[in-house]
Amino acid sequence: MKDYFEIDNFLTDDDYGIIEQNSAKIESFIDPNGVFKGTESAKQQWFNESTALGTLIKSKLEQIELLRGIRIDGMQVADMLKPYDVHGDYLVQKNQKAISDPTMHDPMYTIIIPLVEGEYHTIVFDQKADYNNFSDYKEKNAELAEHVSDDDWQKYCGHCHAVDQKYLTIKKVLHWHKGSLMAFNRRCFHASANFVKPKRALVLWSSKSN
Ligand SMILES: [Fe+2]
Repeated sequence: MKDYFEIDNFLTDDDYGIIEQNSAKIESFIDPNGVFKGTESAKQQWFNESTALGTLIKSKLEQIELLRGIRIDGMQVADMLKPYDVHGDYLVQKNQKAISDPTMHDPMYTIIIPLVEGEYHTIVFDQKADYNNFSDYKEKNAELAEHVSDDDWQKYCGHCHAVDQKYLTIKKVLHWHKGSLMAFNRRCFHASANFVKPKRALVLWSSKSN
């Protein structure tokens, strides 16, 4: 698999109508261990493949060569209120409970489809793990002599724990474009670039059967 890829203009005008009609329950996401621990950092609407939106997205994803045979561990429309700091998506969690099983279905891609225009970015790092918490990674790995530059860290990751900079190098800065698709390896640590105005996206996590 690739560590990341992008597809321009993934959504058509008709698709937005179906996204608008999604009526899944709005759930508040309280960050359990990030920099904004204990505060609401997103509102999430989880939906599944039996809904009109789930059926649409799954069939569109199946047409992408790199996603052939895709399994979906979870899908949501997310209103992101605060930027996530460094973490991995190896396990998909809902209300802090794992809803994916990596022993059955190998984690593949985190897929983000922005639903708004704006100066938003997702930062994908080179560092990888078979777990989500970057604090665990820091315990197991040494600081790097060559790590993210001070300029890039301040530009994108000013909201993250300062010490994390010393353990990370940037693989790719993914720029958000409304209706386009960005995918990256769920094992790669990543973070939202800092932002002020809330942002909205379809987010899903793909896997494949072992
Ligand atoms: Fe993530």
